[in-house]
Amino acid sequence: MKIKFVPPRLPRTGTLVLFVGEGRKLSPQGGQLDKRSGKALTRALDASRFKGKAEETLAILAPAKLGVGRVLLVGAGKADPADRALWQHCGGVIVAALNGAGESEAAVLVETKDRGAEIAAHIAYGARLRSYRFDKYRTKEKSDQKPSLKTLSILVDDLNTARRRYVPLDRIADGVFFTRDLVSEPANVIYPESLAERARELTKLGVEVEVLDEKKMAALGMGALLGVGQGSARQPRLLVMQWHGADDKKQAPVAFVGKGITFDTGGISIKPAAGMEDMKWDMGGAGAVIGLMLALAGRNAKINVVGIGALAENMPSGTAQRPGDIVKSMSGQTIEVLNTDAEGRLVLADALWYCQNRFKPRLMIDLATLTGAIIIALGHEHAGLYSNDEKLAEQLMASGKVTGETLWRMPLGEAYNKLMDSDAADVKNISGSRDAGSVTAATFLERFVNKVPWAHLDIAGTAWATKDKPNVPKGATGFGVRLLNRFVRDNYETAERK
Ligand code: BES
Ligand code: MN
Ligand code: ZN
Repeated sequence: MKIKFVPPRLPRTGTLVLFVGEGRKLSPQGGQLDKRSGKALTRALDASRFKGKAEETLAILAPAKLGVGRVLLVGAGKADPADRALWQHCGGVIVAALNGAGESEAAVLVETKDRGAEIAAHIAYGARLRSYRFDKYRTKEKSDQKPSLKTLSILVDDLNTARRRYVPLDRIADGVFFTRDLVSEPANVIYPESLAERARELTKLGVEVEVLDEKKMAALGMGALLGVGQGSARQPRLLVMQWHGADDKKQAPVAFVGKGITFDTGGISIKPAAGMEDMKWDMGGAGAVIGLMLALAGRNAKINVVGIGALAENMPSGTAQRPGDIVKSMSGQTIEVLNTDAEGRLVLADALWYCQNRFKPRLMIDLATLTGAIIIALGHEHAGLYSNDEKLAEQLMASGKVTGETLWRMPLGEAYNKLMDSDAADVKNISGSRDAGSVTAATFLERFVNKVPWAHLDIAGTAWATKDKPNVPKGATGFGVRLLNRFVRDNYETAERK
């Protein structure tokens, strides 16, 4: 789908999209067209349940005297020009409605003079986010099964401002799409080495990419990460990405660390067969970190950032680690592995330790599809947020609200932490009870974090969706890219570089 910003001249073919506010209020142009067509729009509104609420749509086919094949009315609710999420959602529902209708070209009329360019940019952004589709392996699809919309034109007065506003949003969408692609790929295609190779593509944008192999990780003492990978024919990797966008190249970076289990069978503590295919997206944390780096580098963000991916495949085999094994982590702490399916926390233990020691970051945020328990607690509407720092937690909560990638704060604390004490080693990797499963996982991670402000996002419920949302088609969501891009922009970036 191609998105264009063009001068407001009404189209003669395809679909014309008009916004309608709450109370079914037609816009000035809408009113004129209604008159010209002998009240076709008013009569259609009267015959429908359409109220003008946000995200509602009403299609009117072949209205008299307007030339176009279809007018699509889109509810804009209060039509607040400053409500970015509203316009992004509108962009998304327009794409969904037109693809459903088999339309190939459409023009969206933005009539608001005040902030029209910004509205146009956000409609375009929302449209692009919704247009994502992972179809590279569908070789026999008929053309009427494919999305029909080829061109979406946004009609707006201040073209140049709209185009300029859209550029960074388009780069963020690139990051979201990259994450969605990586997460959608099956585990025979994406394994630690190939995932790291895909991340190397970021070098083109000026990101420095290093990949540590088993030998290097062994030399660093990463026994926890290596233990998870040892059962697989695919060797584990540690992916290290650096973006130096700040004027002061020595400025301490903001760091992101992602769980990158390219497939999680559970290992010897093997998972049941039903639904195991979902575990191809157990690298959603690392996927989000890679997409985030792409977004930040793509829009030339003025900040230094480190992105780390802890990559391994969790398999059962003759070389796999066993329940009861004791491994030594890079931190020096020994870990009793009582359940090999609690592997995400093991790879993160070494990745977090490595990150804070090598880079001395200002703050460190990890993303991980860490526990089924967070899905029991929060479902698919929020990711779990754990943090040792109030300010950091508040900043993340705020970015979640703005982007719609929402977070819910969960507790840490000594009472939970001591549930992870082991009789045989310094710490064990499961508490031994299902109670507060997502919390105990987080307290395990906290044992590998030094004094640095840290947050952990448990994204097990949000990395993948089985239902469409206005800007997120079902499948891999790219959760975390928009959230953390916003977090960086609002709190740690001086200004965007031109
Ligand atoms: N990758 C899973 C968590 C998960 C489950 C993500 C379902 C998405 C959907 C993780 O490695 C895992 O297996 N966690 C275990 C921990 C348990 C053994 C303490 C879990 O949640 O059951
Ligand atoms: Mn697991
Ligand atoms: Zn896992």
